[in-house]
Amino acid sequence: MEQYAIKGGNPLVGEVEIGGAKNAALPVLAASVMTDETVYIDNVPDVRDTKVLLQSMESIGVQVRHDGRHKVVVNGGQIHSLVVEDENIKKIRASYYLLGALLGKYKYAEVALPGGCDIGCRAIDQHIKGFRALGAEVVIEHGLIKTKAEHLTGSHIYMDISSVGATINVMMAATLAEGRTIIENAAKEPHVVDLANFLNSMGADIKGAGTDVIRIRGVSKLHGSDYTIIPDQIEAGTFMFAAAVTKGDVVVKNVIPKHLESIGAKLLEIGCEIKEEDDCLRVVASKPLMHTHVKTLPYPGFPTDMQPQITVALALSRGTSIVTESIFENRFKYVDELIKMGANIKVEGGDTAIIEGVPGYTGAHIAAPDLRAGAALVLAGLAGEGITVVDDIHYIARGYEDFHLKLQGLGAQIELVNSDRELQKFKLKVG
Ligand code: EPZ
Repeated sequence: MEQYAIKGGNPLVGEVEIGGAKNAALPVLAASVMTDETVYIDNVPDVRDTKVLLQSMESIGVQVRHDGRHKVVVNGGQIHSLVVEDENIKKIRASYYLLGALLGKYKYAEVALPGGCDIGCRAIDQHIKGFRALGAEVVIEHGLIKTKAEHLTGSHIYMDISSVGATINVMMAATLAEGRTIIENAAKEPHVVDLANFLNSMGADIKGAGTDVIRIRGVSKLHGSDYTIIPDQIEAGTFMFAAAVTKGDVVVKNVIPKHLESIGAKLLEIGCEIKEEDDCLRVVASKPLMHTHVKTLPYPGFPTDMQPQITVALALSRGTSIVTESIFENRFKYVDELIKMGANIKVEGGDTAIIEGVPGYTGAHIAAPDLRAGAALVLAGLAGEGITVVDDIHYIARGYEDFHLKLQGLGAQIELVNSDRELQKFKLKVG
């Protein structure tokens, strides 16, 4: 079983290159099957979720070729099945993006119900509502979501909740529907905009992505494209917080600073310095961290995917902080692990963490409960005194490419170990 072995206490210093956004790459890859022509997608992160999606696309006849580590060449001209149900696809959330993509192109799709991180109930009613509004039938049977339509017709859809996944799915299907679709209360996340830009580069007519009203004029056909995925806001944010908790000085390179404003604002509030240069941000943490309050919100608010990382920092700050999770109902499972490291946090009502700052963490044997919490616990290990061992790091591999190697590049003492012997060797090495 793979684990991370960490010896904490080193300030992280240096530069780190941020990769392509996982949550943009997943819908863009799914949407690439919507044309019979070849699509070239660059800056695809080499993480487990993108690999699983690509394997599932191959299982229905999509041709996938890798041109280097981050460029993927996709051709969806020879799809032979509209049923996506291989075992792996059930483990990722983005499996359902193939529903919108295939429904739009073929007016038919069956896809295994989505999995993804266990962070609370993750309903799909808004996806279903959107597909039905476009004229599709949708049923859930035998663990599959099945959808079909004679014709898809544009519609005026009001989303009851701002959902990234539902906005993306409906946008894909509506792109190849007849007539005009308006999505109100649409999600505004950078990856929603990236998908709209990608679809437009294939000949779609989508306006307003990034605002809460998206207008789509259906087109009959899409064509090939050559597209580069945006940088990963959450990977960048995670390294920014790695600087904060280790009292370090880290430059995150190849980022879009606009996407990091809510994250940077909180780092400033807790006493870090931030310097912006073109597509880089430098975070310097030379003063003791201060407490603050934070509530997760849809973009441009503070992202739920950064909630564990800021909690790890606030648990080391002076005073009392309150973190409120407003997107998912069960996203504080990692707090029990942080408590093993000496944190003083109480979770109330499932959505509020009351944090009394402590002077430091102590290394412990802990387990990652999901992707972002896993990364945050690694940050706690890097900030803490002594050795931390993190189990279940397969979650982290879902969304962070070369996480430990990038951290090593900043001076972290972290290694991926595969056995007790390797763990003992690490302990001897770091003393
Ligand atoms: C996306 O999940 C991301 N996943 C998540 O990232 C991210 O946390 C989330 O958006 C919020 O930003 C991917 O992009 C693959 P939602 P998604 O639909 O699309 C409720 C990570 O760590 N809802 O915006 O599933 C839902 O229960 C992951 O990278 C409905 O009620 O999120 C939740 O409370 C974790 N009905 C809220 O909306 C629906 O039909 C937001 O969910 C859909 C959602």
